[in-house]
Amino acid sequence: MLVSENVLLRPYNTFGINAQARYFSTFADLQQLQTVLQDTRWQSSPRMILGGGSNILFTKDFDGLVLKNELKGITLLKEDDDYIYVKAGAGEQWHRFVMYCIEHNYAGLENLSLIPGNVGASPMQNIGAYGVEIKDYCHEVEAWHLKDNALVTFGNADCAFGYRESVFKRKYKDQFVILSVTYRLLKQAHFNTSYGAIEQELQRMGVGELSIQAISQAVINIRSSKLPDPAAIGNAGSFFKNPTVDAAQYESLRTAHPNIVAYPVDNGYYKLAAGWLIEQCGWKGYRQNDAGVHAKQALVLVNYGNASGQEIYQLSQQVLDSVKEKFGVDLEREVNIV
Ligand code: FAD
Ligand code: EPU
Repeated sequence: MLVSENVLLRPYNTFGINAQARYFSTFADLQQLQTVLQDTRWQSSPRMILGGGSNILFTKDFDGLVLKNELKGITLLKEDDDYIYVKAGAGEQWHRFVMYCIEHNYAGLENLSLIPGNVGASPMQNIGAYGVEIKDYCHEVEAWHLKDNALVTFGNADCAFGYRESVFKRKYKDQFVILSVTYRLLKQAHFNTSYGAIEQELQRMGVGELSIQAISQAVINIRSSKLPDPAAIGNAGSFFKNPTVDAAQYESLRTAHPNIVAYPVDNGYYKLAAGWLIEQCGWKGYRQNDAGVHAKQALVLVNYGNASGQEIYQLSQQVLDSVKEKFGVDLEREVNIV
């Protein structure tokens, strides 16, 4: 298997940052992964697994081995009266997998249409959109433990899924290579149209009878109208998480800013729309050189062409500082900083 040296990473990250990897290789099966890992030349170098590169900001060159996962395959494992278990290789494109499920009438993932990236990264931050998170349907994750050289299977509860969180992003960061994910999908759909503008979009589309196909198309339409296409403008989706505050802080914020956008979550806490906070600080549409804040969605930082990872990172720090100063709220970056 070919390991290349000093590889430019611009084609491999949706921010379009031109960092460089000291070593770069792909792997299409476990055997190939093991072969590369055993090579003594980079035994002491750091390693990172790359999927579609849609949730990463490279702020410097990577002085180690980048392993791009190309594990393919979608397999129907088993079914019972209610569920169907579908296993997908980590290197399958997420949206292609969602479309496959919709074509076969396997329900559950339709609200997660058009999220960029690969299946292997889907458990990393428990991807979510339009009222659904993968934790609702993820059955099992198969992963390779880099230090022990062993295959480990994680059940749903083992993954410690939370809002944009999992055991792979925190406790076991950089310890496992996710090889496949099995989803437990529904034979009988539970339509979820309550979030955001889905109902409105379905009406606009003139949908009479609800279906997972129609919901998927509505989500695709909404997403396309406000999120920048990485093929046109570099970005990694929401740069920050939506922050959670307690009831007392929410009440004082609401008194000072009656239009604040928030919704209640568990135990009396409130989730604030970070996009609103950032827009109120005047950032929406801001541009400095090639680093900017998207004009239609202030939660998305963009690279108009030749911004460096450092420039994007510095802009994110300015945004973070201004939200703290105006609202007293701490934003947390969602994107993985390398
Ligand atoms: P990468 O960016 O390649 O990797 C992300 C992290 O996971 C890195 O730390 C990497 O090392 C690690 N990793 C990747 N694959 C593996 C593996 N097989 N084993 C171990 N570690 C691995 N996210 C949402 O949740 N909801 C959204 O609605 C959403 N919308 C987006 C819209 C746009 C326009 C963009 C650009 C991004 C959006 N995202 C969204 C973020 C992104 O699409 C997801 O986080 C996606 O799951 C990242 O997948 P990836 O394959 O590109 O991961
Ligand atoms: N808003 C503004 N100004 C903005 C952006 C948003 O005021 O510039 C307010 C609006 O009131 C809007 C509300 O914030 O109604 C929510 O905005 P939106 O529906 O666009 O969702 P979001 O909270 O900004 C989250 C996820 C997205 C996901 C959408 C849809 C996070 C960090 N982001 O964004 O995920 O697609 O909901 O479910 O939770 C991602 O993770 O990369 C991502 C794109």
